[in-house]
Amino acid sequence: MCGIVGYVGPQPALPILVEGLRRLEYRGYDSAGVAVRTDDAIWVQKAVGRVSSLAAKTRLGPAGCIGIAHTRWATHGGVTEANAHPHLDERARIAVVHNGIIENMSELKRELEQQGVVFKSETDTEIFAHLIRSVYDGDPLQAVSYAVKRVRGTYGIAVMFQEHPEQLFVARNGSPLVIGLGDGETVVASDPQAVVEHTRRVVYLKDRELAILTRDGVQVHSFDGRSLDSSIEMLEADYKVADKEGFPHFMLKEIHEQPRSIQRCQLGRIQVEDGNARLGGMELQPRDLVGIQRVIMLGCGTSYHAGMVGSMAIEALARVPSRAEIASEFRHRHPIVPREALFVAISQSGETLDTLGAIQEVQLKGGDCVGVVNVVGSTIARTCGRGTYLYSGPEVAVASTKAFTSQITALLTFTLMLARTRDLSYDKGQEVAQSLHDIPAKVAHYLERPGPIDEAVEAIVDARYVLFLGRGFSYPVALEGALKLKEIAYVPCEAYPAGEMKHGPIAMLEEGTPVIVIVPRDSQREKAISNIKEVQARGAKVIAIHTEGDELVQSIADISIEVPACAEYVSPLITVLPLQLIAYKAGLALGRDIDKPRNLAKSVTVE
Ligand code: F6R
Repeated sequence: MCGIVGYVGPQPALPILVEGLRRLEYRGYDSAGVAVRTDDAIWVQKAVGRVSSLAAKTRLGPAGCIGIAHTRWATHGGVTEANAHPHLDERARIAVVHNGIIENMSELKRELEQQGVVFKSETDTEIFAHLIRSVYDGDPLQAVSYAVKRVRGTYGIAVMFQEHPEQLFVARNGSPLVIGLGDGETVVASDPQAVVEHTRRVVYLKDRELAILTRDGVQVHSFDGRSLDSSIEMLEADYKVADKEGFPHFMLKEIHEQPRSIQRCQLGRIQVEDGNARLGGMELQPRDLVGIQRVIMLGCGTSYHAGMVGSMAIEALARVPSRAEIASEFRHRHPIVPREALFVAISQSGETLDTLGAIQEVQLKGGDCVGVVNVVGSTIARTCGRGTYLYSGPEVAVASTKAFTSQITALLTFTLMLARTRDLSYDKGQEVAQSLHDIPAKVAHYLERPGPIDEAVEAIVDARYVLFLGRGFSYPVALEGALKLKEIAYVPCEAYPAGEMKHGPIAMLEEGTPVIVIVPRDSQREKAISNIKEVQARGAKVIAIHTEGDELVQSIADISIEVPACAEYVSPLITVLPLQLIAYKAGLALGRDIDKPRNLAKSVTVE
């Protein structure tokens, strides 16, 4: 969501801060701003829109060596320069950037207004600047500690004082902050992407920690003032600044990365010879696996769709009851947390607040939750304490593609482990392991010859409504295809379990309505073919995603897109590919901002 960058060191801070913001742009933003300390005053510049607009306005900025910067994703107040961060106190001697939400905003604002403070923006962030000022008597640490203790909500903040030219203050409660310790310089950011160019030595700030940054390092304190030890970690050797590598968009690059990302996710985990799998980070021995009586997946958006596939596979192969839950619903309905259940939290970013809230609810009720996470060291990974990483590499496009297929791969790997402790025989285990092992080559094969995607795009770009249908394992794929089309191309569409269509959405069909049916050669195929006939009888135009050589489906579909044959439980890894490409190309045809669609954020750190 919002992005924070801060710098203190020997170099002019401004270009470093603006470049850092560029690295964070992918997280979602609508305006940006920067503050740099000069000898006389705090210099601030802001711009609505892209970081490039801010960059254009800051070319002739000052050469101060300490500063903070921010990309904003509006929560409180419209998208205006006045609402963009940094925000200043009334004397313009304290600057603050903030990621998150202040829940007791009204109460604090009223209190400050009663003291005579006049607010200049509609944001909650400005409260921090005035609260800090209200108690500041020359001791910045004490003033920042006061403010963080008064505020309820989730936040990561960075604060700069005109009177303290060598120090930045940062604090965290729920929104990530990573501090990079360079050689004579220190960088802080909400994401390692803005740090990695400077250093690989990092400290991840924990919740309710406050830190003082100087060019020589970091001192961490608890909110109640105790000095704490900070553990320095190294960013992984292969973690690097994301690059499009010749592709016009990150989304396309990430779609084409899937043969490799799926393979990386399997590496050392799938054992075809043994007909088994291993996910060491889950810390589940066969004895523990046998004790699991149900598996409950938690996630949002695409990660929830991956969870649906995972839970279907667990029921089909391990015969353990399983279901997927939307984290934002689960966490707020006082859920039952069965003792013998294993919860699996799925998240690409590892920062999604609703998923984190659901995990905390499970843990509060004594439940056991493992993480399936892409971003190493992220809050969800840390909160779960155990689980598995996807190793997909940074996913930069807002629309999730490679993380989805890696999440499913990881969940199927877990399914195999679980199933082998139950009824799944050695032979069947080998078959499952082999199916997973063969997937990267099949994905590569499909991506080389993706079929008539352009024809499908032509059929849907001007449509008033597009319906996606799937049954069984293809239903979450239909949901994922519709989500991609909405977020990238803004084409009105919805996904339905094909059998449920006649209970309502069929009324939407008229002559020429595009209906995308995911109908691989699996146990549901015949029923899905009947659904194709039903929609065609109402004049719909059918785009069928089906298995290579399925002449029957090919002959009845208006547009037929073939995918390689595979086992039913791995089919989502293949059938989703044309849907990713359709969304991408539809977005392109409609002139959309592919990697940064409107209103969306990559990492959703608010409720
Ligand atoms: C869709 C998309 C979102 C995310 C959702 C959860 O393309 O990216 O629906 O899947 O916001 O995010 P993570 O996986 O980071 O928890």
